[in-house]
Parts: sequence; C-alpha cells; structure tokens
Amino acid sequence: LNLRLTADLSHAIPSTLYGYMWEDINHSGDGGLYAELLQNRAFQAVIPGTQNALNSWQPYNGAFLSVTSKTDGVSAALPNSLEVRIPKVVTGPIGFENTGFWGIKVQEGWTYKGSFYAKSSTSIGKITVSLKSTRGAVFASKSVEGVTTDWKKFTFEFRPSKSAPNDENVFSVVLDGKAAAGKTIHFGMFSLFPPTFRGRENGMRIDLAEALAGTRPSLWRFPGGNNLEGHSIDARWKWNETVGRLEDRPGRVGDWGYSNTDGLGLLEYLNWAEDLEAEPILGIWAGISIANYSDFATWPVVPEQDLQPYIDDALEEIEFVIGDAKTTKGGKWRASLGRTEPYNLRLIEMCEFPQFSLRHDFDQRWKFQPASYAAYRWKAFVDAIGAKYPHLECIATTLPSTALDPPYKKIDFHMYNSPSWFTSNAFLFDDYPRNGTLYFVGEYAVTSTNDKNALGDIPSGRLAYPTLQGAAAEAAFITGLERNSDVVFASAYAPSFQHIRNYQWTPDIITYDASHIVKSTSYYVQEMFSVNRGTHVLKTSPTSTADSAPLFWVASYHNDTNVVFLKVSNTGTSDLVANIFLDFPITGFGTATSISSPSLSPISGIFNVSNTIEEPELIIPVASSFAIPHPDRFNYTFPATSVTVITLQTS
Ligand code: AHR
Repeated sequence: LNLRLTADLSHAIPSTLYGYMWEDINHSGDGGLYAELLQNRAFQAVIPGTQNALNSWQPYNGAFLSVTSKTDGVSAALPNSLEVRIPKVVTGPIGFENTGFWGIKVQEGWTYKGSFYAKSSTSIGKITVSLKSTRGAVFASKSVEGVTTDWKKFTFEFRPSKSAPNDENVFSVVLDGKAAAGKTIHFGMFSLFPPTFRGRENGMRIDLAEALAGTRPSLWRFPGGNNLEGHSIDARWKWNETVGRLEDRPGRVGDWGYSNTDGLGLLEYLNWAEDLEAEPILGIWAGISIANYSDFATWPVVPEQDLQPYIDDALEEIEFVIGDAKTTKGGKWRASLGRTEPYNLRLIEMCEFPQFSLRHDFDQRWKFQPASYAAYRWKAFVDAIGAKYPHLECIATTLPSTALDPPYKKIDFHMYNSPSWFTSNAFLFDDYPRNGTLYFVGEYAVTSTNDKNALGDIPSGRLAYPTLQGAAAEAAFITGLERNSDVVFASAYAPSFQHIRNYQWTPDIITYDASHIVKSTSYYVQEMFSVNRGTHVLKTSPTSTADSAPLFWVASYHNDTNVVFLKVSNTGTSDLVANIFLDFPITGFGTATSISSPSLSPISGIFNVSNTIEEPELIIPVASSFAIPHPDRFNYTFPATSVTVITLQTS
C-alpha cells in the first residue's frame, strides 16, 4: 500500500465521538463499579421468608436467619430486615456473615467504612463486626453496643492489619453467645465501603473506575439498555426511587435477573459523568417494557390514552436534573440533596428497543419495533419535552429509514455482530446522507464468530471474552466512524462490565472478580482510539475503502498540539507493509502503539486470543518509537491481526 497523508483537513471531530453505554448488567453496578462490598445489603426486592431472600448471607455457629417484613423495616422503602434468632443454649460467638460479591477484597492500609441498623426487645450485649477469611483469620474488627428496641444506626471503621491472600473473605457480625442466648435481634441496611474513586462517599470501586476513565470517554449513556425498561411497566427503572438517602431507595429486580440496590442512582450517574468529563445521554423511559426478551408480542406497552403520567414523570425527571434550584420543584429537591447547580444535560434518548436494528435482515421479528415506536410514543414524549425544554435534543432509537413525527435529528442504532460483519460494514456511513441527521452507534461489539447468529451461545461461536480478531474488526469499523464523524456524532461500546462469577452477557469490555480486573482487547482499542483523538479528520490518499481491506485506516490532526494520528487496523492474517508519504514536515521520528498477536506466547499466530481472568495481560498495547530518516516518507509494517496508532509530531 502507498498511503499519502495530506495536509487537508476534512471536518471537525465531534467531542462526543467515543464513550460508553451503561446499565447494571453482569453485576456491573452492584458488585462492580459501585464500590459497596456487601451483597443484598438491605434485603431489597426479595421475598421475605424465602431462601433467596438470604442471598449472600449465611449463619455462623448455629444462629437462625430469615428475612422478614413482619416487623417495621428501617424505612418505608426498606420494609425487609434480617431476623436473627439465637438458640437458648449456645457457646462462643454466634451470628452471621455476608459473602460479598463472590468474595471480598481485604487490603492492608485501606480504611473500610461500614454501618448497619439493629433493634431488639431485650439487651443483647455487644456486636462485633469483622473482616475475616472463610477459614477464620481475622483481618480487622470493631465492636459496638447499645442496641435498643427501636432501629438504631451503628457506624464503624476499620483498617486491616494485613492483606488477605485471596478474596475468600467474609464480613462477619457476631454476638456474645452468653448475652444473646434465646434472644431475637433484627438487623437492616448494612453497608461496607473500601476507599472509593476520588474519595467520593457512596462512590466507585477505584480500579474499575480508573480503568473506565483511562479510555477518556466523552460520552456516558445511561441507565440502559434493557435495565431501564423493566420486565413490566411497574418494574421499570424509576428515577425518583434512585435518589436521596440510601434508606429511601427501595431497589428493584433489574431486567438482568438480580436485585439492584439503586445505590448507583440518577445523581451518582450524573456526578460520575462529570468526573469523566463525559457528556451524559439520559435514557428516558418511553412507554415500553421488555417482558420475554425474545418475544416482542408479549412486551407491555402503554397505550396512547394512558401515556400522560409517564410523560409527566419524564418531565419531572428532567426538571430534577436541570431545573433551577430556587424556582422549580425538581431543582429544589436536587438542591436539598446537595447539588444546587443544574447538570449540563443536552441529550435525551427516548428509549425503545432498537438494538437489533441492523440485524433485521436476518431476523424479521425486529421489524415490529420501528412501527410501534413511530405510532405515537415518540411524538407524545418529544413534543412535551420540546415544549418545556426547547434546548434539549431527543435522540430516536429506531431504524435510520423510519419516518418519525416530529422528524429526528439524532438517531441511535445498535450493532452486535461477527468480525466479518464489522469489517464489511466499515464503510457503512460513507454513503449516509449529509442532510443534518446525526448518528449514534449507541451499542456495538463483536459478539460472535457466527455470521448467522451473533447472539447465540458459546458453542455456536459466541465470544466468552473479546478476542484480538474481534477487536481488530471493531477497530476497522471505528475507522469508518471516525472518518464519517461529520455524520456520526457518537459511539458506545457495550456492555461495559462483567463480574466473572455472575454474568448474563458476553463479551464485555472489562471483566473482574472481587479484586482482579481484565482489560480486554476491545478495551485497548477503545483506549487507543479515544485517547489519541485529533480535532479534525485528515484526508488521506487513497481513502480507506473496501478495496484496501484488510487494511483499514483513518487519520486525524490535533490543531492545538499539531500532532497527526494515523489509526490502522490490519484484519488479515499476514503482516502488511505500507509506504507512507507525508505532505507536511514532521520531526525525525514517530511513535506507534499497537496490539497484536502475542509473539512470545506458545499461541503466537492464533488470532482468536483473549485476555482472560487467568491470563489478563496476554495482549497489551506495546509502544515504540521509530526513526523517520526521510522528511516526507516512511515504511511501516502492520502485523497480522493488529491495531496500531501512529503519532507524528508536525514541525
Ligand atoms: O448491551 C446489552 C443489551 O443489549 C442492552 O441491554 C440492550 O440495549 C441490548 O439488547
């Protein structure tokens, strides 16, 4: 290939081009980004009296545990509590344990902050809380006393004297057997936090937050995805139940089958977007829930004549986010929770279910969706939002070809598919009309090697983790997004997170357990493309086309730093050499960062490789610098199945 980087700028790259779509799936929120260490901390969204209600809790030394709502809970929102009955005859400490989110990380030097509520009709002596291994080694502990007949909140802090060798640790709560024998005690709303990202109270797990922030995303679409929609209309994500004191958040059974605490609520998400300096895209519930995932016909839909309360609710949500703190009800409520200044919200997504819009060619069921959307819901919500907040833009989630009234200016559609689909669609947006409509690829990922069933199971080709081959195909596709960023204003890889011990969807960009994290090949592609961002697309000659496959590229220029970025994906299985010519003077060397097949590994030459929890750093970006002896040209070899970013400092 002879490739010329010209000195001509094509268009400005929108600041929102790279980001994430976020929802609680795979324990990405509870058990993931949300730093709370105790699972099922407040017995939310469980059925009292069932074994399931005791999820993550276990008795210690013969205590009888059950979840009850027969006595008042710690708040109206949290009616359930843990009833602990101590046998009449007991020796030694007795109580119960929480096993965390499949383990608890115990780190020397960290301060853990905890709390719980307790009440008992008789005196029970002291309560000792500790972090200990499942084999009984105690790392940190504190005792409190003073339980009364009414709910009382106990808070504590402890610092482990040494780190635990692994995650097989529990949070233990014990009573003195003698003092408590024959008594019944109720406990409610536990919490235990390690240090959090930027020290935020009720904040984020540091390693995961840093990993997400490390790709410098400029867009944060939340709170779903399916998890916004609910399995029934009443089970939808209700914004007003996710704000305020944690004791006032009832939680819900999320769409992905587990209880959500909603500790990560609307304000936490907005603050997090601010921490990331990312533009929030707020998904608004727009009248449809997802009952049986694969059977559209069963999905609960709010009929047109019943929509008004839901439209009002959306308007109240927006007012809560951006309303004036002195003159609006929503703004006053927000201010009462500590945030006076309105959030910087520009984009609202009218959530429906467009995710398979580009799969419709092989799955006819999905054609149902655009029509139902166009019928009345889009108009009802968009007209109401536009009348009250004319500066907000509503993003449609439907097929690009769908006519909506009022017409959309921004549209989100989703792509989960095979490597070959992504490479052959790298030029998808080249021909999209330049008529003012802007596109958001609001969810995308290589999910399978199976061209015919991209969302099937692992035996049929579904990826367990992102692969190098998949990441190179995503990168090829992203070169097309960046090159067409005059019409593509944003993109979001999805889903973001996966707790390896309990998940519903693969592949995911970051995998983890209680203390380890794995950045996938797709993660590194996001990082390479997002961090190395020009302000303008730079024209190349030739431009990347289907004829130049398996090399795909895009160039950009940063007009503050005068740096040129050349991003190249080689999706082929052979190394390819490019002769690169420059129409502008540069300094005498360039730098390259790339991911490629692990050459020192015994599996060198195999491209279907992944970073995994067992081998998290099999494929990591390698940076190098290289001399450019001629001022206007150089050769570069792009390894087989690789993604490379070359940076050139123009002089
Ligand atoms: O990203 C995983 C799921 O894919 C999202 O919840 C949904 O929008 C799509 O089906």
